[in-house]
Amino acid sequence: RMEKSKKYQDIHLEAARFYFANLLKGKNPGYDYLRKRGLDDKTIKKFGLGFSQKSWNELMDYLLSKGYDKQDLVQCGLVNHKSEGNKYYDRFRNRVMFPIFDYRGNVIGFGGRVLDDSLPKYLNSPDSLIFNKRYNLYGLNFSRKNIVDRTIILVEGYMDLISLFQYGVRNVVATLGTALTEQQGNLIKRYADTAIISYDSDEAGIKATLRAIEILSKIGINVKVINLKDCKDPDEFVRKYGLEEYKKAIGDSTHYIKFRIDHLKKSFNLQKDEERVKFAKEASKIIKELKSPVEVDYYTNYIAKQINISTESIKKEVYGKDYNKV
Ligand code: UTP
Ligand code: MN
Ligand code: MN
Ligand code: MN
Ligand code: MN
Repeated sequence: RMEKSKKYQDIHLEAARFYFANLLKGKNPGYDYLRKRGLDDKTIKKFGLGFSQKSWNELMDYLLSKGYDKQDLVQCGLVNHKSEGNKYYDRFRNRVMFPIFDYRGNVIGFGGRVLDDSLPKYLNSPDSLIFNKRYNLYGLNFSRKNIVDRTIILVEGYMDLISLFQYGVRNVVATLGTALTEQQGNLIKRYADTAIISYDSDEAGIKATLRAIEILSKIGINVKVINLKDCKDPDEFVRKYGLEEYKKAIGDSTHYIKFRIDHLKKSFNLQKDEERVKFAKEASKIIKELKSPVEVDYYTNYIAKQINISTESIKKEVYGKDYNKV
């Protein structure tokens, strides 16, 4: 099994080198694409970005010529096998390739992006002997040496992380679009006590943020959420406003309790009395989860201010009959 893991890592490294060489060969559409998105040569090299040609078998033929076994290529998820007609063909075709590393820097998978807006936008390696999505954080191999004050920034995408790195924000990891898992949360805990979530500002990003808050706060990580103003993701933000503004946004990031209260508030029409009452009741449930009396006091006041209800009555709502004991 150890030997097999090593072999699969070798296969992935060969594939990454192959895709990288493609990118630099002559005039390459993948290279033009990445440059158009603002990445410089140094960044492209650091992250080992590459290109898979519009071919059904270029990678397979190359790796077979290196002596690797076809079944191993299938097990690595680099080659697909269609039992009908017993056909083998490259999984990644005509895509910009992002090698996925483990925390040590071994290539264990790939993400491939189309050059236009066809779907799926990104195709990823399936889980394999050496790649388990739930346990991995993209970019950790680069960021772990750059984590200061045990603070880490969480982004969704490959391009978010790479862009931030190029601009000089280097304590970042990406969850690659999927919801943060408990295992990834535990991995974060090894390196950080504070996580700043910088997911996309669309509805899917907000949903993923709420889910990540739940997982991370349960592990005992101090969670904050960044505000990206009018931008859809951190890549767009840092390109539009630059490094200093992004750092400012990090400094201004919202404590997760306030983020949850603000999110909750959006689903009520606070002009109406009965909705204000409903909001107060729902918000009280959030307060109930807090252990620190100072936090209870602070966020109770915050809620009261939103709707012009006394702090007193919210505390009664939170603690019920036990109110006098508090
Ligand atoms: P996004 O749709 O936000 O894309 O998905 P992006 O990262 O901003 O990419 P660009 O800027 O359009 O190139 C966030 C992440 O979700 C995963 C990828 O990891 C992506 O970076 N994803 C997204 C997929 O795995 N498959 C998809 O089809 C789309
Ligand atoms: Mn998104
Ligand atoms: Mn919502
Ligand atoms: Mn993007
Ligand atoms: Mn995005």
